[in-house]
Amino acid sequence: MTHQPETRRLWQNMTLFDGRTVHPEPMTVAVCGERIERVCPSAAATGLDGEVMANGGVMTPGLIDCHTHLVFGGRRADEFEQRLEGASYEDIARAGGGILSTVSATRMASEDDLYAQARPRLEALMHDGVTTVEIKSGYGLTTRDEMKMLRVARRLGRDLPVRVQTTFLGAHALPPEFKGNADGYIDLVCSEMIPAVAAAELADAVDVFCEGIAFSVAQSERVFQAAQAHGLPVKAHAEQLSNLGGSALTARYKGLSADHIEWLDEPAIKAMAEAGTVATLLPGAFYTLRETRVPPIDLLRQYGVPMAVATDGNPGSSPIFQLTLMLHMACTLFRLTPQEVLQGVTVHAAQALGLQHETGRIKTGLAADFCIWDLEAPNELAYAVQPGRLTQRVFAGQETL
Ligand code: NIG
Ligand code: FE
Repeated sequence: MTHQPETRRLWQNMTLFDGRTVHPEPMTVAVCGERIERVCPSAAATGLDGEVMANGGVMTPGLIDCHTHLVFGGRRADEFEQRLEGASYEDIARAGGGILSTVSATRMASEDDLYAQARPRLEALMHDGVTTVEIKSGYGLTTRDEMKMLRVARRLGRDLPVRVQTTFLGAHALPPEFKGNADGYIDLVCSEMIPAVAAAELADAVDVFCEGIAFSVAQSERVFQAAQAHGLPVKAHAEQLSNLGGSALTARYKGLSADHIEWLDEPAIKAMAEAGTVATLLPGAFYTLRETRVPPIDLLRQYGVPMAVATDGNPGSSPIFQLTLMLHMACTLFRLTPQEVLQGVTVHAAQALGLQHETGRIKTGLAADFCIWDLEAPNELAYAVQPGRLTQRVFAGQETL
């Protein structure tokens, strides 16, 4: 008999969405330590012994929010009111508000303040079933303040039972001290910020905001080159408000994902399909900014581009920290199917973070990150907007709810 170093634990008779499909028959998932040991039909698991942790229920992989800005200072409720009165997101940005107002508040906040403000947002996501989250910088815009934000994100990941992936987004907006000198700011991003962030191992990827109100394709490309020189994968906020070409650029650099993409065109979709770049859909920003141009879902399907779904949780364009709501909204607003949105917050979201060999599926060898829900079937997660249906949350084999 082989020696079993840790007790096997069993989740029996699960209605299982494994990250790709819903299994037609009841399934048993065996966990040993932090990893999934075996996944098999319950009918074939009769000889498998271990401690039974649950019997019956809907199981999904732990949810993955692959695009958030949840570390920030201040609030933007007044800007929300201005937009209700007719001002556009771009008008507010051009007048020095929007992202830049969060930059002032974030620069003034201490690391402990930022941590104290971000932690409840992350805990809200965790209570909604999230076991992996991406957190971006981008409201510091100096080397010191960007690193401060990233340290807060890393600390959250150390303190809480959740996997935190950090993304450096120095090229998010032009800071006021560089007004009229965007190229000068990009010089700073490339020659000082990226090397410092990489040396301190504070970022897992590098993002840019490629847009009329932010940075050009040429400037974004310089950032990508600096990222690659430091061995960091890239991604972009692209084609959100116009079709500038940021997604095609991201595909050229074999980027992890192009995000927002309402204005994406067919050649760029083809390039993304060939590069393996994920299309990350952000229905919260689309909804909050009351956009009308829907991302080209049919073409993304046609070319087989993997689609992820995320909250984009941030103080301006998507002040929403509930990933299951995004499932519902991606179905209603973008006409994705429940199966597509479930893939979008599991297997495809893992791919958007480069973590597809670690999490995002219920599969032998992957981390034991999963959720048990009080539902009859997995598609109910997208159908009803109803908090409180999570009955077990397991992160790296540990029950955390
Ligand atoms: O993902 N598009 C740019 N950046 C963020 C918004 C950040 C903000 O408004 O504070 C986004 O929508
Ligand atoms: Fe964003």
